[in-house]
Amino acid sequence: MAYVVDVLDAADPRLADYTRLTDVDLRKVREPAEGLFLAEGEKVILRALRAGYEPRSVLTSSKWLPGLEPELTGHGCPVFVAPDELVAEITGYRVHRGALASMRRRALPDLDAVVTSATRIVVLEDLVDHTNVGAVFRNAAALGIGAVVVSPGCADPLYRRSVKVSMGAVLAVPWTRAETWPGALDMLREKDFRLLALSPDPAGSALQDVDLSGRVGLVLGTEGDGLTSAAIDRCDLRVRIPMAVGIDSLNVAAASAVAMYAVTAQP
Ligand SMILES: C[S@@+](CC[C@H](N)C(=O)[O-])C[C@H]1O[C@@H](n2cnc3c(N)ncnc32)[C@H](O)[C@@H]1O
Repeated sequence: MAYVVDVLDAADPRLADYTRLTDVDLRKVREPAEGLFLAEGEKVILRALRAGYEPRSVLTSSKWLPGLEPELTGHGCPVFVAPDELVAEITGYRVHRGALASMRRRALPDLDAVVTSATRIVVLEDLVDHTNVGAVFRNAAALGIGAVVVSPGCADPLYRRSVKVSMGAVLAVPWTRAETWPGALDMLREKDFRLLALSPDPAGSALQDVDLSGRVGLVLGTEGDGLTSAAIDRCDLRVRIPMAVGIDSLNVAAASAVAMYAVTAQP
């Protein structure tokens, strides 16, 4: 049996993990500092539990309790149950599929460990949009990428929106945050990754003409300005996905999917 607690008051201090969820700036600071992240919806919560993440607590409406309870048994965390309206009052919005879990973050692996058995990796420099980060991870899981490395300034893969958009892939694909930048790119090259700087720049080599065999790292840049010149300089080759005349660029997650497909389709 899970430890079920009926919630009667939105101001109950035991619900602090779930308050002001729409205040992105606050949550971006609070969650890593407090060592938590939020999994939203039954499917993602179950994926987090099955990936071995420890729940601090769960907040759900009674409708989702039967699906969650068997997997929460033994964790000893409180399962707060409240009507949908009260859940919305606590969190500040209508929760997707009525359930949230506050999970404990784990220490991230170091760069060496995360890429050791990978032949195809993705590197993200300073993406700001959590939706894009989540979508890249979803693509990485679907297209068989071995690991993802994010730059120190990249949006948090464990932020609620990233976790949700990734459908839980951020909990399954090995990843870490580089401690040095762009020095991490040098470290990856030392490990025999050929780094491809993905850029719409017409001066780059067309993706279909590039040898994609062996250890390859796909390096993708931020939504507005793209890759920094410091990152491009550390890559082996600038590579473009050819586009129709007059189009500036693809969305970064879309570009990642095209490049991941190309790189995983080759031995
Ligand atoms: C929205 S784009 C940034 C556009 C920016 N003006 C630039 O020149 O890179 C974000 C990222 O998506 C990737 N990207 C977008 N379109 C691409 C294309 N046609 N070929 C290769 N990469 C592309 C690149 O990694 C880029 O840094």
